[in-house]
Order: sequence, then C-alpha cells, then structure tokens
Amino acid sequence: MAEQKATNITWHDHAVPRADREKLNGHKGLVIWFTGLSACGKSTIANELDYKLYAAGRRTYLLDGDNVRHGLNKNLGFSAEDRAENIRRIGEVAKLFTEAGSIAITAFISPYRKDRDAVRAILEPGRFVEIFVDTPIEVCEKRDPKGLYAKARAGQIKGFTGIDDPYEAPEKAELVLDNSGAKTPGQLADDVIAYLEKSGAFSI
Ligand code: ADX
Repeated sequence: MAEQKATNITWHDHAVPRADREKLNGHKGLVIWFTGLSACGKSTIANELDYKLYAAGRRTYLLDGDNVRHGLNKNLGFSAEDRAENIRRIGEVAKLFTEAGSIAITAFISPYRKDRDAVRAILEPGRFVEIFVDTPIEVCEKRDPKGLYAKARAGQIKGFTGIDDPYEAPEKAELVLDNSGAKTPGQLADDVIAYLEKSGAFSI
C-alpha cells in the first residue's frame, strides 16, 4: 500500500458520472489483466484482443510492460519494491480507464500475487478480469525473442523472472490460456472474447 502523503486535498465528484460514459460507450469499464512470464505471449494476445475489440466497436486501450517502462515508469527497475510500484501505478491508470467507461488491457509480468490482488481490490467486483497466460518456461526460453533468457542464464541479468526471481501463478484467475503452441494468439484472443461475452463482463 502506498502512503498517502498529500494532505488538505478533497475528492470531487465528476459532472459526468461513469455510468453515463458507459452508456455512451455501450459497455462497462473493465480491466483485462494479462499476467505471465516474459515471452509467454501476453503482449501478442493482448494486441490481438485490443484489435478485435476495437473492430467490434468497443473502447479499449492497451498498456504494455516494456512501453510503460519507457515513460510513466521509467524510474523503476526490477526489484520486488519497484515491480510492486510498477503494478500499483498501472493498476491506478487502468482504473482511470474504467472511470472513463473504457476497457484497459494490460500486459505485464506482474509476478507477485499480492500486487495483482491489490489491483483487484481497488476495483469493484467484476471489473478486474485476470488472465493467466500459462506458457511453460521451457517454451518461453526457447522463443526468447529479446535474448533475455540467454543473458539471464549467463548471469548478465540478475533477478530475471523465472530464472532467479519468482513468478507466482494466479490461484483464482478468471481465465487460463495455454499458449504452448496448440492455438494461435488470435484464437486465444477469441477465447477471451467468448469468456467475456458468456460471463456478461461487458453488460452495463
Ligand atoms: S513486472 O515484473 O514489473 O511486471 P514488466 O512486465 O513491467 O515486469 O516488464 C517486463 C519486461 O522487462 C520483460 O518482458 C523484459 O523485456 C524486461 N526485463 C528486463 N529485466 C527484467 C527482469 N529482471 N525480469 C523480468 N523482465 C525483465
């Protein structure tokens, strides 16, 4: 939990409430939270999902680990504290998207259960959809698109998730995707949409 530093601040209610924005958008504000190892396919599936939802007329925005670390979170590294702060900020930004009646899709390793649960806790029930991209580390390491697993194995990167830093798999994810090769990222994105529609997640 981040400390409340500022005093003498007052919460203001908005003239346009969230419900009116959701009505305009035609769906609920949601956070679709992808979690999984580096190179598990989170970003690729999240991008497919973003495109498919956009094409279907939904208001979405994708927040992606490597990109957000170039800007908003450029002052954070990969210690447990920095990863916690990374996830806390992303959670707050994603929540703002839900306040705007939009769908935030996030793709971060988010390796610690308590950090993901803290994001779930700042949202109302039904607004946080946790999706575990369950790709075995051997598959991620074989793909190694950025060569980072090789560097971590060689000791050139310390504290790399799955090698010498933990990944805590979700225990109560809304959805688990097996991305070890049987389905394409597009098919997995379709599975996500099928889940969202069946569970009524979009319904205002
Ligand atoms: S998180 O752990 O704080 O959620 P995040 O998703 O933002 O991580 O960033 C992960 C990306 O940073 C990886 O895909 C990889 O490209 C890069 N990276 C660099 N160093 C590390 C590290 N020590 N552990 C994991 N990923 C790292």
